[in-house]
Formats: sequence, C-alpha cells, structure tokens
Amino acid sequence: MSPARRYPETGVFYRALDREFPMIVRGEGCWLIDDRGNRYLDACGGAYVANLGHGVSEVSDAVAEQIRKVAYVNGTAFTNEPAEALASELRGLNPKGLDFAYFLSSGSEAVEAALKLARQHWVESGKPGKHKIIARTPGYHGNTLLALSASARESYRKTYGPWLVPVTMIKAPYAYRSAPDSPEMTAQALEDAIKKEGADTVAAFIAEPVGGSSTGASVPPTDYYRRVREICDRHSVLFVADEVLCGSGRTGKWTALEHFGVLPDIMTLGKGLSGGYVPLSAVVATERVLAPIAKGSGSFKHAQTFSHSPAICAAGLAAVRHIKKHGLIERCARMGAVLQERLSTLKSLPAVGDVRGLGLLSGIEFVSDKGAKTPFPRALQFAETFVARARDAGLIVWPNTGHADGENGDLVMIAPPFTISAVEIDEIVSRFKIALEKTLEARHVQR
Ligand SMILES: Cc1ncc(COP(=O)(O)O)c(C=O)c1O
Repeated sequence: MSPARRYPETGVFYRALDREFPMIVRGEGCWLIDDRGNRYLDACGGAYVANLGHGVSEVSDAVAEQIRKVAYVNGTAFTNEPAEALASELRGLNPKGLDFAYFLSSGSEAVEAALKLARQHWVESGKPGKHKIIARTPGYHGNTLLALSASARESYRKTYGPWLVPVTMIKAPYAYRSAPDSPEMTAQALEDAIKKEGADTVAAFIAEPVGGSSTGASVPPTDYYRRVREICDRHSVLFVADEVLCGSGRTGKWTALEHFGVLPDIMTLGKGLSGGYVPLSAVVATERVLAPIAKGSGSFKHAQTFSHSPAICAAGLAAVRHIKKHGLIERCARMGAVLQERLSTLKSLPAVGDVRGLGLLSGIEFVSDKGAKTPFPRALQFAETFVARARDAGLIVWPNTGHADGENGDLVMIAPPFTISAVEIDEIVSRFKIALEKTLEARHVQR
C-alpha cells in the first residue's frame, strides 16, 4: 500500500494543505521519479536549485566524508577547512572585490543578514540615521520578516502586515509592461525615491539583477545597473544584489550582474550554490563594507547556530569545483541560447503573451488578450491550472501570479539543470504545448 501523502493523514504538513503530493524517491540528471514509477522532467531544477542535476556523487561523497571528520563547528569560536576553501573558490569566481563570504542556509537568511550588514556598516561609519531600505515591485527576497518586508509579494504579505517593517518600493524594470523611457526602466525611479526619503536616511537598495519568478525573468536594459551604481554612489547608498535565484551561473555567467559590468557592495547567493544537495547560502561583501565594522565594534551583530557549517560548506565546495571542472557555466550559456531560441517559438501560441530570459532562466507570461497584454482574471487560476496539467504531462515548471498589477498576472518559469540536453529542451517544448492545450480546454479559453 502506498503511504499516506495528504494532510491530515500524513504527519508532514506542506504549504498546500488541500492536495496530494507525489512521493519522489529518486533523481536522475534532470528527471525526478516517484514511488509509482512516474518520471517528471524537472524543468525548473526544483526551485531553481538543482543546477548540477541529480546524482553527482562528488557532492554527496564530500558531505559524507566531512561529517565523518567532524559533525559541527561553532562558527563563533573556530573556522573549518570547507568554509575556508569554499570562500577562496568564491573569490576566484565572484567579480573582483566581492571577497568575503558569510555562509548560511537559505536565501531568506542571506537577505536578512545582508540588509543587517548594510545597516551596521552605516551605524559604525558614524551615520546611524541611514536605516531605510529601498526595494522593487514586483520583487521577491524571501519569507522571513525583514526579507518579506522587502518583497512585493502581496499573497505572502497580507496576513503578516502588522509585523512587517516599512520598506520603500519603486517599480521594477519590466520590459514587457514598461515604456522604454519610463522611470523604472531608466533607474530614475531610484533617484527619485532616495531624494524623497532623504539620502541621509537610506541605507541600501536591494534588487534581483535579473528578475526571478516575480517578473518572470525580466532582463533590465543594458544601462540600468550602471545608472543604479552611479546613483547609489552619489547618495552613499549601499547596493545589495540579490543573486539567490539568478546567481551561481544560472544566466550563463557566475553572477547575473556581470552581464551589466557593475559591482554591488553586498551580494547574496543561495539556491543553486550547492546544487541543491544541502541548504547553503552566502552573504558576500566587499572590504569597503566590512572595514568600518572591523575597525569599530569588531563583530557583525548577527549570529546563527548553523552559519559556516562544515557539512554544508563541503557540499558547496564540491558543487563549485564540479561546475568548474565540467565547464557548467559555459554550458549554461550555450544551452541557455538553445532554450531561449526554442521557447521563443511558443510566442505564436494562444495565451502566450511573452517569452523572455537569459541563459537557463526563462519566463513565459500568459495573457487573455495578446495585443492589450490583458492578464487573465485571478479567479481563473490560469498559472496554477497550467502547472497541474504540466505535471500530468510529466513536466515540472514554477508558477508565479500577481506580477501584472499586484493581483492579476500568470506566468511560469523554466530553469532546468545546467546539464540539460537539446533533446530534453525539445521535450520541455512539446510537453509545454500539451499542458497549454489542456489548460485552455479546462479554463474554456477561446483559441
Ligand atoms: C531572489 C530571491 N531571494 C531570496 C529568496 C529566498 O530564498 P529561500 O527561499 O531559500 O529562503 C528567493 C527565493 O525564492 C529568491 O528568489
């Protein structure tokens, strides 16, 4: 008999309490296999995490070997070999200047720590008035309370509103829905917000260099971040690049911001940093950010029991070395071009408003009227229906809703492991078409 897998028969509770989940028992490359023998083409690497694909024994062996040596090291008293080695590998990969890494376990934790670091930098630089954060809408930085405060994800925020802190929101560049000379596309929106808040009160601007689910892999104009950098410098505001989703090679370069030739002050990495083998994230900072703290109080006022854990750093180290050894970033760029080209053929299908992205990160936005770019009414649950139909067709994609106007908007993300083949990309496209046909049928959408 199959085990129970639906609340309340099972003792596990997942985010969705109203449905049954298949039980995954194995992964092979880009594929997941459930206990009934069904195979799913994991076209989103789980949640943009399984960058190396499943079954890379160098990573699992490295974790096992490390745990055999030492189980845990208190990061306030000792350092450990994997943390040191991973930090030096990252120094080689990160844009020059982003030299110092603080290891944690999730993207939300990294964002919380990055924003706290920005605040502490200003306090210890003798500018305690600088405390405000500017973030973008749509945008997402995590689900712990400070990260959620900086996230424009209404569905998550609504219930916890009274606990969230004020964060100034500016519009994100969103080429499909923004005019090219609009303040959000030129970064003028950032300058306007800093002036309105008063530069002496603003600590940091946080942004996802290339959009994740929130804007469906929207790529800002080439000049956007050069302008952001110049505005931040002029107003003494730290620029925090949240590379949790788009970093670690996903766009075909180690960090997405490299496409724009700009250096942030603080950067977060997560998700695919360990290839998903363990939960690993990092806050990376420049010397300029850490110097006032090193000279001042001497310690970052933030602590978590499992920071710098040797086991998770060992996984990250093995993952990063595997990426380098097999040229997976270059492969991501190469296969990314194939993916973007093949997905672009979907633009002619009914309800497909836009297809966009960079490298192996892409978003497909659905609309009810292609000319007017009108989103489907939220009540239709188009994205959710698509994801369910795709799963029936053995294809796993990631949905997002609400990006068009805060409430409406349906898109799905495709971000497969860097090891995806051209044949598997064709398989994504053909299963996508089946899922779309079934969704249009289920939602009675005119073709
Ligand atoms: C850009 C970005 N930052 C932060 C996070 C939060 O990461 P986590 O879910 O690991 O806490 C996410 C998660 O989707 C993300 O996409």
